[in-house]
Amino acid sequence: MDQLKGIASRRSFRILVAMLILLTFLHYCTPQVRFLPVSSFFLQRHVVERIIFILPVAGATFAFGQMGGLIALAVAILIMLPRVFLLSPHPMDAFVETCAVGVVGYLVVWMIEVQEREKRLRQQVASRFRTINAVTSIVTGSLELEQISASALDKISEIIKTHVACVYLLEGETEELVLSAHRGLSSGCITDATRFRPGEGLIGRAVRSGEPVVVGDVQEGPELTARLADAEDVRSFLAVPLKSSNSVLGVLALADPRPRLFTSQDMELLTAIGGQVGVAIENARLYESMRFYARQVTCAQEEERKRIARDLHDETIQRLIVISRRLESLATLLERSPEATHHLEELQRLTSDTLKGLRSFVQDLRPSTLDHLGLVAALEGLTNDLEKRSCIETTVEVRGEVRRLAPEQEVGLFRILQEALNNARRHSQATRVTVEVTFEPNKVRMSISDNGCGFEVSERMHNLVSTGKLGLIGMYERARLLGGRLVIRSEPGRGTTVGVSVPV
Ligand SMILES: Nc1ncnc2c1ncn2[C@@H]1O[C@H](COP(=O)(O)OP(=O)(O)OP(=O)(O)O)[C@@H](O)[C@H]1O
Ligand SMILES: [Mg+2]
Repeated sequence: MDQLKGIASRRSFRILVAMLILLTFLHYCTPQVRFLPVSSFFLQRHVVERIIFILPVAGATFAFGQMGGLIALAVAILIMLPRVFLLSPHPMDAFVETCAVGVVGYLVVWMIEVQEREKRLRQQVASRFRTINAVTSIVTGSLELEQISASALDKISEIIKTHVACVYLLEGETEELVLSAHRGLSSGCITDATRFRPGEGLIGRAVRSGEPVVVGDVQEGPELTARLADAEDVRSFLAVPLKSSNSVLGVLALADPRPRLFTSQDMELLTAIGGQVGVAIENARLYESMRFYARQVTCAQEEERKRIARDLHDETIQRLIVISRRLESLATLLERSPEATHHLEELQRLTSDTLKGLRSFVQDLRPSTLDHLGLVAALEGLTNDLEKRSCIETTVEVRGEVRRLAPEQEVGLFRILQEALNNARRHSQATRVTVEVTFEPNKVRMSISDNGCGFEVSERMHNLVSTGKLGLIGMYERARLLGGRLVIRSEPGRGTTVGVSVPV
């Protein structure tokens, strides 16, 4: 009923009705003589209106499809028939003409429908490509597993409207499927259907077989009981494996209370999408393991630096201090021998220079301020050091609510600043360096700008690895390890700015 109301309210429907009324008027209410000369044979016999009746038939096919066209054709013939049998002076001829109009009208409806079907098919294929592309670009845009599952589900829910949509991923250690993202699951079901063993239920079956599983009506196949289906009172069910290079990494499951919702096109589309999501998941896992190893290496490196710094501080520096004191006391004992005093003074100066150098080396290796007083104090230490070692004027600006960060975040940001300042000192010929640190609620931003000679960033990045220069690459990696982003802006003659932002 609602559908009929919907059709009746459409503008095209009203135009069609108006056309039929007008044609009926022309067909019945006008005498033999109309707009054209009387001599016109066909016009006298009402052939033209009969032919024109094909127009609303074609219009109805375009607007309402094959069924609409056939109904319009039937209505047109019903309108024409009374004249054939009751008014026409040549009923036999009129009947043949009406039949001919019926046949031509049917052919027109059929041709339009074939064309429209082809058009729909082309549109469907194009929209499938667009959908696959959209999902691919969304899922490959991230290297975070949870984000990939969530954005894949969001996009799929836009295309196929279902009550429940979930992504399960295979867990390496337990080899079980674990719920990674979901839409529409009730809270009871979330606890009930978080884990499946391969082969268990419909979801487990899709993993074991590596093939999609589609069930038109779960209630009709008692052997196809699924925990998810039971809990959510669903009837249609579709599970598609998420594959990458033939190994199954998880399952995309859709379910809905309406029976027989999923078509074979849906299954094909989701299988193609499942392949793309699978590749993205594999990439994210590889990236995750690479990050894990890189994190381990960085932690081990920091630990080693800490140990060397401690050893140098606790043993070497202490011994040098003792030597320096002894030399002092020796100097007072040998006051009367000017030559010995001179040698001793030289030895003292040498020792104190070595001590200074060693202290600054230890500071670079692992500044104790970083562990004890935090990032800002350590950053100020670094810039002060730069001012002392060169004639570069430095400014530090700190904004937002200063707070301690996780140790790896503090060390990471410290090392980035250390490298940026080293580069400014060694390569930029700058006279001024500005360091800005902004503490925001969810992230920390830091920028290091110099007014030096600058350089062509992209050109340099190509050659860096082959020339063994690891400073810039190390900065990028450290930022990435912290889940952040580092950007270097520089142009020859226009200084350099290193900007980094890290979520905290
Ligand atoms: N602030 C800067 N001003 C001008 N040039 C710079 C600056 N920072 C980097 N560069 C250029 O980029 C190159 C690469 O820097 P990178 O830090 O990777 O290597 P490096 O400093 O030469 O060696 P290291 O591996 O010891 O850090 C430098 O050789 C230099 O030419
Ligand atoms: Mg460098």
